[in-house]
Amino acid sequence: MNLNEFQSAIKQGIPAALPPELPYDTDINHAPVRKDILSVSDKKLAIRNALRYFDVQHHAILAKEFAEELKNYGRIYMFRFRPQYAMFARPIDQYPARCQQAAAIMMMIQNNLDPAVAQHPYELITYGGNGAVFQNWAQYLFTMKYLSEMTDEQTLVMYSGHPMGLYPSHKEAPRVVVTNGMMIPNYSKPDDWERFNALGVTQYGQMTAGSYMYIGPQGIVHGTTITILNAGRKVEKTNEGLAGKLFVTSGLGGMSGAQPKAAVIAGAIGIVAEINPKAVHTRFSQGWVDEVYDDLDKIIERIREAKAVKKAVSIAYQGNIVDLWEKLADSGIDVEMGSDQTSLHNPWAGGYYPAGLTFEESKQMMAYEPEKFRLKVQESLRRQVVAINRLTAKGMYFFDYGNAFLLEASRAGADIMKSDGTFRYPSYVQDIMGPMCFDYGFGPFRWVCASGDPSDLDLTDQIAINVLEKLALESPAEIMQQMHDNIRWIREAKQNKLVVGSQARILYADCDGRTQIATAFNEAIRLGKLKGPIVLGRDHHDVSGTDSPYRETSNIYDGSSFTADMAVQNFVGDSFRGATWVSLHNGGGVGWGEVINGGFGMLLDGSPECDRRINMMLHWDVNNGISRRSWARNEGAVFSIKRAMEKEPRLKVTLPQMVDDQLLENLF
Ligand SMILES: NC(=O)c1ccc[n+]([C@@H]2O[C@H](COP(=O)([O-])OP(=O)(O)OC[C@H]3O[C@@H](n4cnc5c(N)ncnc54)[C@H](O)[C@@H]3O)[C@@H](O)[C@H]2O)c1
Repeated sequence: MNLNEFQSAIKQGIPAALPPELPYDTDINHAPVRKDILSVSDKKLAIRNALRYFDVQHHAILAKEFAEELKNYGRIYMFRFRPQYAMFARPIDQYPARCQQAAAIMMMIQNNLDPAVAQHPYELITYGGNGAVFQNWAQYLFTMKYLSEMTDEQTLVMYSGHPMGLYPSHKEAPRVVVTNGMMIPNYSKPDDWERFNALGVTQYGQMTAGSYMYIGPQGIVHGTTITILNAGRKVEKTNEGLAGKLFVTSGLGGMSGAQPKAAVIAGAIGIVAEINPKAVHTRFSQGWVDEVYDDLDKIIERIREAKAVKKAVSIAYQGNIVDLWEKLADSGIDVEMGSDQTSLHNPWAGGYYPAGLTFEESKQMMAYEPEKFRLKVQESLRRQVVAINRLTAKGMYFFDYGNAFLLEASRAGADIMKSDGTFRYPSYVQDIMGPMCFDYGFGPFRWVCASGDPSDLDLTDQIAINVLEKLALESPAEIMQQMHDNIRWIREAKQNKLVVGSQARILYADCDGRTQIATAFNEAIRLGKLKGPIVLGRDHHDVSGTDSPYRETSNIYDGSSFTADMAVQNFVGDSFRGATWVSLHNGGGVGWGEVINGGFGMLLDGSPECDRRINMMLHWDVNNGISRRSWARNEGAVFSIKRAMEKEPRLKVTLPQMVDDQLLENLF
C-alpha cells in the first residue's frame, strides 16, 4: 500500500463496504481466550453494543460474526476490520492531519500496535497480557479518522478505547483526554473487568498501552538495570560489582523481556524462565536474550560455567519458572538475586501459567474450567514460594517486581508472610525505586523522535549527556549515584541496541534533568538541528503518576498508600499546564482495582510556547509526587522538595513536622 492509499484508509475510518473476512493467523502471538462470563442476555447486549459502530445494512452479517468471536475468544475484536496497511510508527509528516499534535498521537498509537512491539497485536494488546490500546478495530479506525480531522481547537475524548468524539476546546488544551477502566469503586474486581470488557464498555489500559506511550521493552530496560544494579549493591560485600553473580527471574513478555538485557548491562548472569515459546523466540531473535535452553540439566551446567569465568550472559529457560526454582534449590548453586515477572496482576486469565500443565493445557483450562485453573495457579504459587524460601535461607536477595507476586502468593496461602502480618520480602519500590529514585524525583522520562530518523535519536542522546554531565557538576551528594548511573546509561544506550519500534529513548531523570533536556531539545528543533519534532512522555510508573499500594506507593508509610489523590491530581494538573494528551487509568501493573495511574504526552515543536509548557508542566508533573512523598515523611522527598522551593519561590509546599515516637508510647 503506498502513502496515498494509507492516508486515504486513515481518513476513511470504517470502510463503507465490508472488507473481506481475514483468516486467523496462527503465527501471531494471540491473546488467550477470555473466560465465558456473560449471560445470554449480556451476550446480546455485547453484540448490540458492538454493532453501534456500523451501518445497519451490515448488521445481519456482523451480528453472526461477532457472536462467533465472542464464543471463540471471549471478546469481540472485529478482526475483519484490522487494517491491511503495515502497522508501525511512520515519520510524523506521513500522517494525514490538520494539526501536528494529532499526527504525533497517531504515530504513537501505531507504535503501540506494531507487531514488533505489541504482545498480542491483533487483539490490540500492547503488553501485560491485557494492556489494551483499544477494545476492537472499529474504535481504532474511528479514532484515527477523528485525529486526521481534528484542528488545534478541538479535543478528542476517549472512554476506555471508545472515541466519544471531538469537542470544541482551545490551542492550549490537550488534544486528547484518555480515561481507561474508570469504574465505580465497588465494581473494580477482576471479574468486573472480564464482564464489562466483554460487554465492550471498558478496557484495561495498563499504563503505557492505553495511553499510547509504550516504547517497547527499552522503556523498562533502564528501570530494570537500575533495579538490578541497586539490588546488587545490597548483596555485594566489598564493592565487587555483579560479575559472576546470578539473577533468576521469569517472563520474557512486554516488560519482563527487558530483564535478560538489563542483567547483562548490569554485568550479571541472568536466567529467565518463559513458558510461551513465541515470547522466547521474539526476545531471542531481537537479541535481548543470548542463549535458550529447554533442558534444566544443561542450564545448571551453563550457569556453573558462566559463574566460573564471571561472564555476563543472559539465558532463557523455555519452561515453567517453578521447575527452574526447584531445580536451582536442589542444585546447590548460589543464587544471589531473585525475582518474578509473570503477569500476576492478571492471574486467572493468562498472566500466570501453573507448574504441572503445558502451555496449551493451561490455555484450555483457564477458558473452560476457570475454577480448576484458579486452584492450579494457587498450588503452583505455593510450590514456587517453597523453593524461593529455600534459596533465600541460603542468602539470596529476593524482591517482588511489582507484578503482585507477593499479594497473589499470600492469597494462595503460600508461606510468604512474617509474624507481624507483613510480607517476608520487600518490593523493588520499597527497597530500591522508592527511596533511591522516586523520593528524589527520578523517574522514567522518555522521548520519541517524530522524524523517525535514527540520527535524530543520536543527537538527542548527545544533548541529554551534555545536560546531565553539566548538572552532575553541581548535584548534591544525595543524588550523585543516580546521576552517575543515568549518565552511564545514556552514554551506552546506542551500543546496547535498545530501539524496537519508534526511535525512542528512556532516561531516568529528576525535575531539573527532565526540564533542561526538554528545553535543549526544543531549542535544537527551533534551530533545525533536529529533523523533526519530539514527543515527550514518561511511564506512569513514576514519582507522581501512580497510586499503587503494592508498587509505586509501597514506600509510603503514613497510611495514604491506599488513596489515589496524587495520580488524579497529576492527570488534571498536567492537562491545564500544557500536555498534548493526558490519561488516567484503573488497573495498570498490579491489577484491576489495585492501582490508579496516569500520564501525559507532549509534542515539542521548537516554539517559544513549548518552552513555557515544558517548564510549567514538568515542574508540576514531578513535584506533585515529591510533595506527597515528603508529606508522608520520606526523608529523601523532604530534602528534594525543600530544594525545589529554594529554586522556585512560587512553590510553597506544606512540610511535615516530625513526631518523637516516644510521645506515642503510653497513649493507649
Ligand atoms: N519490568 C518492570 O519494571 C515492571 C515494573 C512493574 C511491574 N511489572 C509487572 O511485571 C509483570 C510482567 O509484565 P509484562 O509486560 O512482561 O507481562 P507479559 O504478560 O507480557 O509477560 C509475562 C510473561 O510471563 C510468562 N509466564 C507466565 N507464567 C509463567 C510461568 N509460570 N513460568 C514461566 N513464564 C511464565 C508469560 O508467558 C509472559 O510471556 C506485570 O505484572 C507487570 O505489571 C514490571
